[in-house]
Amino acid sequence: MTSTFLLQITDLHIREPGRLTYRRIDTAHYLKSTVQSILRLPQKPHALVITGDLTDFGRPEEYAHLHELLSPLNGLPIYLLPGNHDERQGLRTAFPGHRYLPADSEFLQYAVDVGRLRLIAVDTVTPGKSEGGLCTKRLDWLQAQLAASGERPVVIAMHHPPFRTLIGHMDRIGLLQGAQELEALVRRHPNVERVICGHLHRSIQVSFGGTVAMTSPAPAHQVCLDLSPDAFAGWTLEPAAFMLHALPEQGRLISHTVASGDFDGPHPFWDAHGRLID
Ligand SMILES: [Fe+2]
Repeated sequence: MTSTFLLQITDLHIREPGRLTYRRIDTAHYLKSTVQSILRLPQKPHALVITGDLTDFGRPEEYAHLHELLSPLNGLPIYLLPGNHDERQGLRTAFPGHRYLPADSEFLQYAVDVGRLRLIAVDTVTPGKSEGGLCTKRLDWLQAQLAASGERPVVIAMHHPPFRTLIGHMDRIGLLQGAQELEALVRRHPNVERVICGHLHRSIQVSFGGTVAMTSPAPAHQVCLDLSPDAFAGWTLEPAAFMLHALPEQGRLISHTVASGDFDGPHPFWDAHGRLID
């Protein structure tokens, strides 16, 4: 048995070809850079999950563009999840080969095997709203999936994080329904190794229901860091990144933040005689 490697990217906000996000960001260019970073990874990942905001407005031309931008990853299983910028039907239509997406269900949620991990993707979207929620139907579905997972290590993926970040404008559009119920559910299942989210375009970790819940940075723009109730609702081009979640043969899940881009190196620490380079 070998280690399991699950990649996570999030909040791509892809526009139609030639259009910039917020009239300023070439999100397609940044996604291309992230795709190249994934292809350069020393370990071959088992799967990639994209935790929502795949496009900026959920338009068919945007999904078609995304489809094309992901094509160099051909052969890597890719699991898509909607965010508040997505449109469920448009997403389904643009990715007919993604058979894990339920064809006629109200929600785009599913459970799949990734190596030794069970990946359970939960749909937190409230159509027409920026904030998200988990209604009883979705929580009941998750409960059934967790029960069916037995003792297997589980990663729960969702767009809206079920915790406060202290960034005021983002907390006002966070997971406004079902977070407490989710935490209680996770607490009853100690085999949940991680709750992985997007939405914040930043790296944030909190203790949650006896496990770790976290958000991933994004391939292009990040939400400005300002831990205030009246923080400016804006973005910056801080360095882009994504997540590599690794489950070793034995032990717990290890989450690495990976900078996206092409960097100088690698260079050695030690010289040919085994001495630290002075
Ligand atoms: Fe986003």
